[in-house]
Amino acid sequence: MAKTIGILTGGGDCPGLNAVIRAVVRASDAQGWDCVAVLEGWRGLVEGRFEDLGPKEVSGILPRGGTIIGTSRTNPYKLDGGVEKVLQSFKDRELDALVAIGGEDTLGVASKLFSEFDLPVVGVPKTIDNDLSGTDYTFGFDTAVAICTEAIDRIHTTAESHNRVMVVEVMGRHAGWIAVHSGIAGGADVILIPERPVVFDEVEAEIRRRHGRGKNFSIVVISEGCELPGTEDKGEVDQFGHKLLAKRGVGEQLGDEIESRTGFETRVTVLGHVQRGGSPTARDRILATRFGLKAADLVQQGQFGQMAALRGDDVVSVSLQEATAELKTVPADWYDVARTFFG
Ligand code: F6P
Repeated sequence: MAKTIGILTGGGDCPGLNAVIRAVVRASDAQGWDCVAVLEGWRGLVEGRFEDLGPKEVSGILPRGGTIIGTSRTNPYKLDGGVEKVLQSFKDRELDALVAIGGEDTLGVASKLFSEFDLPVVGVPKTIDNDLSGTDYTFGFDTAVAICTEAIDRIHTTAESHNRVMVVEVMGRHAGWIAVHSGIAGGADVILIPERPVVFDEVEAEIRRRHGRGKNFSIVVISEGCELPGTEDKGEVDQFGHKLLAKRGVGEQLGDEIESRTGFETRVTVLGHVQRGGSPTARDRILATRFGLKAADLVQQGQFGQMAALRGDDVVSVSLQEATAELKTVPADWYDVARTFFG
């Protein structure tokens, strides 16, 4: 019998979301199942907002950035009666299953709805931050790293022309994956990540060491989630309790510190949402497509409470609970690769 699958995208958007949507719709349609868009993440289920989603709607969206069904950082568990509204809308729209495409927040909600109410949900891991356990990589990450690497390359040429220190602030929340990968690929001279304490004396020493061997410019990549010594955070948080990291301005603060310590002219570039915009890389399109097909398959097999994941080169399934239990941060050996080229 034909069934109806709801699809939602939640949290920060990222390149590749549309490729997942297309894959779920195409695979489900081939089985004679219908898909429905749940608009703007969990907000769509709280407010009962849906749109039909068939092969015609997903035609041509593979290379498009963003998400054609909208997203939000709505947390139904933080809204009065939010969870009840989600369950009621699911029933009213006569959905048989839900594919939730998101990061730790969106999938954390999916995991709770599955364990507490048996909601038939499967997850797909997306985030430029690459910080989800249970999968080697999330889609969106490769595109973000490519964008940051290109930016660092461009910053290199102007840094060299002006003999400047250039600080580049990248996203990644509490994980330094984007900073480490783009810093290695772009040949950064210092990389600072939230997993390691920032020591200003060390940053200064690396830059001076480099200048001491005749290099008159330096590139410093800092992840937005770094804690800087002697600075206090503003208390702003989102519905999931996350600090609004971009507003802390760690790049600017680091730039000021470097300039006052070394006397070297310093400029700061905050890459911001450019990292999340635009068309996905081929690698992200492929990973997102494979994840979408896996999610459709999990739904068809009735394997709920699971998430599509990449292990090595294989797409497998892991439990949502396992995938959202803890953040995947950068291990020491990855940082050591980057550190070899400091100074
Ligand atoms: O999780 C993705 C991400 O881009 C983080 O790297 C960043 O901290 C956050 O989202 C920014 O969120 P917003 O788009 O709400 O400013």
